[in-house]
Amino acid sequence: MDDRASRRAFLRHSALAAATVGLGAAAGRAEESAEKPVRVGIVGVGNRGSAILRTLLSLPGVSVPAVCDIDPAAATRAQDVVEKAGGRRPQAYAAGERDFDNLCGRDDLDAVVTATPWEWHTPVMLSAMRAGKYGGTEVPAALSIQECWDLVKTSEATGKPCMMLENVNYFENVLALMRMAREGVLGELLHFEAGYQHDCRYLYFTDSGGLTWRGRHLAEMNGNLYPTHAIGPIAWWGNVNRGDRFVSLSSVSTKSRGLKAFAAAKFGPEHPLAKQEYAMGDVNTTLLRTEKGLTVTLYFDMCTPRPYDLIFRVQGTNGLCMVGNDKAYIDKMSPEKDTWEPFAPYVKKYAHPLWNDLEAAAVKNGGHGGGDYIVLQQFVEAVRRGAQTPQDVYDAATWSAIVPLSMDSVSKKGALVEFPDFTGGKWETNAPIPIVGA
Ligand SMILES: NC(=O)c1ccc[n+]([C@@H]2O[C@H](COP(=O)([O-])OP(=O)(O)OC[C@H]3O[C@@H](n4cnc5c(N)ncnc54)[C@H](O)[C@@H]3O)[C@@H](O)[C@H]2O)c1
Repeated sequence: MDDRASRRAFLRHSALAAATVGLGAAAGRAEESAEKPVRVGIVGVGNRGSAILRTLLSLPGVSVPAVCDIDPAAATRAQDVVEKAGGRRPQAYAAGERDFDNLCGRDDLDAVVTATPWEWHTPVMLSAMRAGKYGGTEVPAALSIQECWDLVKTSEATGKPCMMLENVNYFENVLALMRMAREGVLGELLHFEAGYQHDCRYLYFTDSGGLTWRGRHLAEMNGNLYPTHAIGPIAWWGNVNRGDRFVSLSSVSTKSRGLKAFAAAKFGPEHPLAKQEYAMGDVNTTLLRTEKGLTVTLYFDMCTPRPYDLIFRVQGTNGLCMVGNDKAYIDKMSPEKDTWEPFAPYVKKYAHPLWNDLEAAAVKNGGHGGGDYIVLQQFVEAVRRGAQTPQDVYDAATWSAIVPLSMDSVSKKGALVEFPDFTGGKWETNAPIPIVGA
């Protein structure tokens, strides 16, 4: 593409993306914004932060002037990545746990993205918003109800959006189901089933015989500790916070076996990690209900041997799709009565315009089948135009709140726990996420 063609494509991209967040920026504003680079600082450049960094650098007009990590070697690696990609070597902040405050205070950043361990997500986001920056956080955004409210109140007080970068919402099949749900293919929606089911036992123990940050959380917490990959898409399909809202949940966990067994196999049965107790039950099951009568079964299973599966059963009055095992049945549409057909062809038939527009770049430049690229592209476009982010702070708080609410319910043997309304009533009038391209 020559420069003019590339610029035209970029302008088209910016103008159309305005509609994505429903703010409808004028074409003139889009043109002006196309000139404007987006400058992002990154806090936490370990595994995920490094992937985010590379994807951000692949987006047009994005620069990374600063990186932060408590591990100086990680910060140096990130500086090298930026330089090798042709950017100016970013300044590194590696002087302790709160050095991110200094990064957030720079006057040459538009946004701060964090991919630290979970307990630092809210502190970094609060620091970023208070310093007048957009916040983008890895999942979950918060671990306690207090942190959820802190995010909401700080975003409202500063006027700075905070987006939890839930990449699963931008998977090809998830986006296609978004269209199917909106076009009423499944009739009126009724029930969802999903879960983060991923054998990550190798991530919980260090080779030297200690617990990693994830392992420490699993040793101390019992509930659904990683709900957002599963609930994010469901919340969008079901218009949660946009016409409906979660009102309550109940959660139970099985006994805990997987972590101890894994530690015994790795370190020997006499090792302290093979003898200690772990709070987290192997399989957690949470039931949620919405004001308008949708129900959700949510699983959390990261401690047992198993293939990866997010499930994604979406059921309506006309039929259902079961993404995980590639099945669908839709009344009067499926070829044979009461007989499953494959779900995969529906993904192409109902391809989402956002996917159609970004597929090539997304698959080339972002992990998770392209979802990582699209979520960052959507974040950056909102920053560029000074617009609301497509996943807003209320989504971040609502989806993350399942962590503390499920822990509360598990500790009370599955008692029903009420869901706070982080939107303060705005869920009744908020418009659903529009189905538009990039
Ligand atoms: N969305 C996804 O698909 C996806 C995938 C993987 C991980 N994640 C999320 O990304 C986050 C990071 O996961 P990871 O696997 O990269 O972990 P990691 O341990 O590899 O990286 C975390 C980094 O944060 C740094 N860090 C810790 N405390 C810090 C602080 N106070 N200030 C600055 N840096 C600090 C660590 O030194 C480390 O380099 C987690 O929240 C995880 O849930 C999301």
